[in-house]
Amino acid sequence: MTAEPVTDSPWPLTSARDEAGRLTIGGVDVADLAAGHGTPLWVVDEDDLRTRCRAYVEAFPDVWVAYASKAWCAVGILQIVAEEGLWIDVVSGGELHTAAVAGVPMDRVVFHGSNKSLAELRSAAELGVGRIVADSFEELDRLEAVGTELDHTFRTWLRITPGIDAHTHDYTRTGHDDSKFGFTLSLGLADEAMRRTAELPHVDVLGIHAHIGSQIFGTDPFVANAEVMIGLLARWRDELGATLTECNLGGGMGIRYTTADDPVTVAEYGAAVLAAVDRACEEHDFPRPQLAVEPGRAIVAPAAVTLYEVGTIKRLPGLTTYVSVDGGMSDNIRPALYRAEHDVALVNRPAAGELEVCTVVGKHCESGDLVRDRVALPADLVAGDLLAVAATGAYTASMASNYNRLPRPAAVLVRAGAVRLLQRRETYADVVARDVVL
Ligand SMILES: Cc1ncc(COP(=O)(O)O)c(C=O)c1O
Repeated sequence: MTAEPVTDSPWPLTSARDEAGRLTIGGVDVADLAAGHGTPLWVVDEDDLRTRCRAYVEAFPDVWVAYASKAWCAVGILQIVAEEGLWIDVVSGGELHTAAVAGVPMDRVVFHGSNKSLAELRSAAELGVGRIVADSFEELDRLEAVGTELDHTFRTWLRITPGIDAHTHDYTRTGHDDSKFGFTLSLGLADEAMRRTAELPHVDVLGIHAHIGSQIFGTDPFVANAEVMIGLLARWRDELGATLTECNLGGGMGIRYTTADDPVTVAEYGAAVLAAVDRACEEHDFPRPQLAVEPGRAIVAPAAVTLYEVGTIKRLPGLTTYVSVDGGMSDNIRPALYRAEHDVALVNRPAAGELEVCTVVGKHCESGDLVRDRVALPADLVAGDLLAVAATGAYTASMASNYNRLPRPAAVLVRAGAVRLLQRRETYADVVARDVVL
């Protein structure tokens, strides 16, 4: 039985409308959540989150599934994901610290990052993180220096830039040659790095890693990546005598942000990748390595919605109807950064009746402060109504800022009618907490 929620909706698994036409998630009325916790508010459907973790584990048997915590790095999120048996991928000392506070077993932590500091590498050694992903020649030197200083040997993967163009947004492509990440394969840098590690006794290279990008639809780029990576392991065996036994194929699976998006299922994605690995292993007569994958968005994005209260509505006849909400680019930078689209719905009453095309905007002093461009919403929308924005669990809270000194929103976890606080709302005192009064 697959645990995967197969649905054509971008809304969380337990979303429903009650008799009054109000949205409920996890059996909780979102209008009650807004009344009790204020808006903007992230609402996380715990069943959805856990179900997606399980779907990954099922789709990738015997594979280490590491949650890319950059998608949303909060203690409670990491606790749930780790409880479901996933590893955690971190990219900074702050994410590593969050994993430690969440009680994540450190041998199931993967430490990425294209410019890790000596202090971050020391913490990684002291905490005993499971794998370090080395991203550059400088970092190999830093690893050796810290390893010598602390008498620690880093279990390491080399980050390979495999030359695969994932055809996604420019800002979320990472596997093509001209990238700041990793050792570029086509330029010979990956081979040079592998050779270099022979001289580094504190850097034990167990495998390789590649992440080709994010929000990728279809399976072809992932299949191509698997072929390149297994081919590389086999070539290094033949040419360098290297016996690497681990291979991390990264994250990047696309998800449904609007009903127009059509991603593959986790089961389809897993089957395609594993079949590609097996074919490549057979072709190269290479034993299947211990595989790892690193989903972020696909684990946490669909599980959450953001609730906003409608404020100003500005109708420009023949032009645009602007609907302003009480958050915006400080709690979801994605529309401003990537022109990303999320489904939006009226949720405190039935979303029936005549519709009007509106542009939903935030309250920040930026024209680019968009929530959703041109979306059909009930024409009788008024100040005080509640809008929910779908699939906001990834790269929203984790990218949130205090721009215009807005306190960052609270986040709650809902399940079976119960509500738990995940992150409290910031106060104005928090907002000025780092400022020094002269
Ligand atoms: C190295 C690495 N792994 C995994 C991910 C997760 O990607 P996604 O959230 O698209 O699954 C990222 C995202 O940037 C990444 O940089």
